Amino acid sequence: MTQRILVLPGDGIGPEIVAEAVKILHALQRDHGLDVTLEEGLLGGCAVDATGEPYPARTQAQARAADAILLGAVGGPRYDSLPRPQRPERGLLAIRKDLKLFANLRPAVVFPQLAAASSLKPEVVAGLDILIVRELTGDVYFGEPRGIETRDGERVGINTMIYSESEIRRIAHVAFQAAQKRQGRLCSVDKMNVLETTQLWRDVVCEVAAEYPDVALSHMLVDNAAMQLVRNPKQFDVMVTGNLFGDILSDEASMLTGSIGMLPSASLDADGKGLYEPIHGSAPDIVGRGVANPLATILSLGMMLRYSLGRTDLAERVEAAVSRVLDQGLRTADIARPGEATVGTVAMGDAVVAALG
Ligand code: IPM
Ligand code: MG
Repeated sequence: MTQRILVLPGDGIGPEIVAEAVKILHALQRDHGLDVTLEEGLLGGCAVDATGEPYPARTQAQARAADAILLGAVGGPRYDSLPRPQRPERGLLAIRKDLKLFANLRPAVVFPQLAAASSLKPEVVAGLDILIVRELTGDVYFGEPRGIETRDGERVGINTMIYSESEIRRIAHVAFQAAQKRQGRLCSVDKMNVLETTQLWRDVVCEVAAEYPDVALSHMLVDNAAMQLVRNPKQFDVMVTGNLFGDILSDEASMLTGSIGMLPSASLDADGKGLYEPIHGSAPDIVGRGVANPLATILSLGMMLRYSLGRTDLAERVEAAVSRVLDQGLRTADIARPGEATVGTVAMGDAVVAALG
């Protein structure tokens, strides 16, 4: 059955990097029997420009009808002064919430060809392969009450950190099942020494653990986890945590790999529908210069093939092609060592297409 893909290029370098991933999609359609239709939509600042809203009704209808969504990036300095409901980031949060994309998978993998690009010593990161499972539709990101109001003659800012046990349970299942397919180790990250929300988090994760006797579960406080990620990152296999801690730890983990320009992500609902995006942002500083690294977006397409389209064979083909272009020595500026020759966005995309075989 033909599957529907919605492409949301977004803002900044989004259109440049998504164009390269779409080239790969077309090559897979042409040469490898991928049966999909593509359609484009607006999300983020470009949607605000066109309609006044970051997640317009038309995009919502397209997203609900799609089997999978490929997103570039949203946001940029032009939009920073907009009222909060019109900020491009609101569009991203809204599509995650609307489609119930509660499970955010953020792998941090060091490609052997790039081990020297990390700011950590190569021996600390060589072979690193961590999966961060971040809860994406709850926590202080969405908790009520929220806002800025006046109390006793001064302004106070309020957000609410809240998790229900059903929210914790469903993300815990995702994380345990991911660990089963990997090295069988899961570390749950919380702040139970201070925050009741995360005491419940720990209690519920322990309850769910009874169903996964083959997974070794450990717990870590978030401050220690942040430290351990730079001290000895290879101790981790799968990490599971809430929305806010996961936001922070996944950026930290990405830097272990040397470039945030290499890291894909998947945001999944309970039925395997997903939104796939590179974890880097819209990179306003390099927009339009043709130098952005498209590999994180191409690897996000790989995750889409695996998790939403049921084509593990093609996911492996895409991943192998990325590895091959790195073996060939192709480097965009963000992953090049000083003095090394670099290629641009389009040349990198073309090389991956050629390496697909
Ligand atoms: C991310 C981003 C988003 C988040 C922003 C852009 C709303 O940082 O996907 O990690 O905080 O979730
Ligand atoms: Mg983030």
